[in-house]
Amino acid sequence: MIDVTELNKRFGPRHAVRDVSFSVNRGDVLGFLGPNGAGKTTTMRMITGFLPPSSGRIRIQGKSIAEDALHARRAIGYLPENAPSYGEMRVRDFLRFIAEMRGFFGRERNRRTDEVMERCFLTHVQLQTIETLSKGYRQRVGLAQALIHEPDILIMDEPTDGLDPNQKHVVRNMITEMGKDKAIILSTHVLEEVEAICSRVIIIAGGTVIADDTTAGLKQRSPYHNAVTVDLESEVKGAAETLQTIKPVDRIEKLSETSFRAYPQDGQTILAAVLDLTHSRKWPVRSIRAEEGRLDEVFRHLTATQAEEERAA
Ligand SMILES: Nc1ncnc2c1ncn2[C@@H]1O[C@H](COP(=O)(O)OP(=O)(O)OP(=O)(O)O)[C@@H](O)[C@H]1O
Ligand SMILES: [Mg+2]
Repeated sequence: MIDVTELNKRFGPRHAVRDVSFSVNRGDVLGFLGPNGAGKTTTMRMITGFLPPSSGRIRIQGKSIAEDALHARRAIGYLPENAPSYGEMRVRDFLRFIAEMRGFFGRERNRRTDEVMERCFLTHVQLQTIETLSKGYRQRVGLAQALIHEPDILIMDEPTDGLDPNQKHVVRNMITEMGKDKAIILSTHVLEEVEAICSRVIIIAGGTVIADDTTAGLKQRSPYHNAVTVDLESEVKGAAETLQTIKPVDRIEKLSETSFRAYPQDGQTILAAVLDLTHSRKWPVRSIRAEEGRLDEVFRHLTATQAEEERAA
């Protein structure tokens, strides 16, 4: 659905996007992660045809954006980083206007407007002007205008930014539902959101793709992946040394007198072995849990070099 090859964007001396390549298929929900200023918005604006690339190729459903911008505009729904302007327009009038821009008139225009207002929980504010809406409601209007023509491709720049927890939940469910038969790219700084809805993640830093993986794949890069934490009710003599004897255990971290974390060699599974051992030795176990690995940690690790450069500058 989306095919990006060696995309570059320069703003004067600033090389904001460098040789970015990736593709997105139907059924993919791709998350763009990256520090502030990494190039996420710039990349999205190029894919939606709002910003011409300095070099590189973008194909939407096989058609080059440079040659057929109209096709891209039709196929894509875009939620930009900042919620819509047209502040003096009423919600319903604005969405009807967008529907007309998309080529729908009369009853079809009204049907689509009503339906999208319902989906985005805007019906009760439809007669309010956009500038008088709260931030979260303006974000919903942005979402509604992106969906009104039922596009095959959705590009959403921080779609849940500013939404309350209930609405975040609703929008995440909507994205998951739509992701089944669309191609979706979204950017976010919320890592739990990535875990909840993205089938794939691209991490961008300094304009460059530094990881393109599934969330599970990324978590496997964490040193905590498959580590097992054991909490005991009371102290057991030599507990750390005993845990260390388990075959694929690499090292034991002592968190307190009664709490230990066992790290496996090469991310192997050690949970069963730890359970067996504590059971056979009749240790007073409070809890035992295996760690999946944490995305925030992997993110920080992968983007650390860039953060250091920023501090140095
Ligand atoms: N029109 C522009 N003119 C000059 N520089 C720009 C322009 N647009 C973006 N940039 C620069 O390009 C870089 C990438 O910006 P971009 O908005 O793509 O980052 P981002 O990853 O979306 O960050 P954030 O997480 O803060 O939204 C930044 O250094 C930014 O200052
Ligand atoms: Mg941005």
